[in-house]
Amino acid sequence: MTKIKLKVNNKSVEVDVDPSTPVLWVLRDHLNFIGTKYGCGVGSCGACTIHLNGRSIKSCQLPVSAVGIQEITTIEGLSENGDHPVQKAWLDVDVAQCGYCQTGQIMAAVSLLKSKPNPTDDDIDTFMTGNICRCGTYLRIKEAIKKAAKSSNK
Ligand code: FES
Ligand code: FES
Repeated sequence: MTKIKLKVNNKSVEVDVDPSTPVLWVLRDHLNFIGTKYGCGVGSCGACTIHLNGRSIKSCQLPVSAVGIQEITTIEGLSENGDHPVQKAWLDVDVAQCGYCQTGQIMAAVSLLKSKPNPTDDDIDTFMTGNICRCGTYLRIKEAIKKAAKSSNK
């Protein structure tokens, strides 16, 4: 075990873990940020998507020792009251079905809109390809991303 300092959702924290532990498990088991989900554990589903310095990454694939001074943001840190424009668009469109993949979808969508404020259908398809939804909510995800893009650009 090693003491590792992290910055998560704008707060400094310290965890005592095996340095090879994936960030996903540090967040869930040590810091109780359980909004980030475990799906496949091999980087294929996107359920575990978080932001590292504002860019989306799959937290099941990142050992905690590799984070260093980079800032981690989880769904809990995206907004104060669940009112980030992407979260609002998600509610307006009623995207979720079972909901399991949706944290990862939202975190990926926020990252997409940072790099492309007005994404085309192709941009959305390409960027979101690593985030799987077993319920098939893809059309509503696309609609919500476009709605969020419009609201952010007002
Ligand atoms: S749990 Fe990380 S990509 Fe599936
Ligand atoms: S809403 Fe069920 S897996 Fe995406």
